[in-house]
Amino acid sequence: MGHNHLETQPIAGALGAEVHGVNLADDLDAATFNAVHQALLDHGVIFFRDQNITPAQQLALAKRWGGVHLHPYIPSLPDHPGVFEIVKDVDDRHTLGGMWHTDQMFTPTPVRATMLYAKVVPQAGGDTMFANMYLAYDALSDGMKDMLGGLRTVNQYNKKKQRAAAMQVSAPEEEAITAEHPLIRTHTETGRPALYISYDGITRRFAGMTDEESRPLLDYLMEHATRPEFTCRFRWEEGSLALWDNRCVLHMALNDYHGHRRVMHRITIEGEATH
Ligand code: OGA
Ligand code: MN
Repeated sequence: MGHNHLETQPIAGALGAEVHGVNLADDLDAATFNAVHQALLDHGVIFFRDQNITPAQQLALAKRWGGVHLHPYIPSLPDHPGVFEIVKDVDDRHTLGGMWHTDQMFTPTPVRATMLYAKVVPQAGGDTMFANMYLAYDALSDGMKDMLGGLRTVNQYNKKKQRAAAMQVSAPEEEAITAEHPLIRTHTETGRPALYISYDGITRRFAGMTDEESRPLLDYLMEHATRPEFTCRFRWEEGSLALWDNRCVLHMALNDYHGHRRVMHRITIEGEATH
């Protein structure tokens, strides 16, 4: 098959696998790329250890999946449009992505995948958690699935909360970006339904309903979606790289390492309209 060296090792029952035998600094041949992509579809989030790549190499890798997305508010590294640094410094208290979410849900075409590469990590702490939204959907009762089937969510970029997270970059003055999405999203490649939702700073209400009417059910669904048995937790090392599929996976950064420094290089891959 040409990629017999590639091995995947699940890190939890719900989702997530480490992929061994791939050097991401290489220009992956088609068979290897296809195997890596299949691992992403199978496991939702995949992890590589001990990688040593430049921003240019990370960009080249990301482009195998599609167009690289430029963040509307957060600037890229000067010479590498599309790569930006997530930094939490020794005296920072806030972290980017500290609540359960899927990336860019406040836009009509949310990014398909996110690639995070660890440059500096604390001795302990700063793990990232992930949750499998296929499992969350599947575990709902038939009655609940029927009821949720037609619902759409209204999602918004939360200026106040996100500004602090945006690493000394001020949020723009104009109106917040808003997007509607189906609550149950069908994955374009696997064809599987997944619960599509983020924390209350992003997913505000159901379309056609008030905040008050929506909140109890949204709260229930977030609690359900992030039940421990639907999750995995990744412990970073310098040189670890994670790639996750935002169509079927939620994630959250753990902010438990105050006084230590963490630096990641992040790329997101352009997505498609939801249905
Ligand atoms: C992100 C994000 C989590 C982390 O890059 O989208 O939420 O652990 N990061 O840094
Ligand atoms: Mn995120």
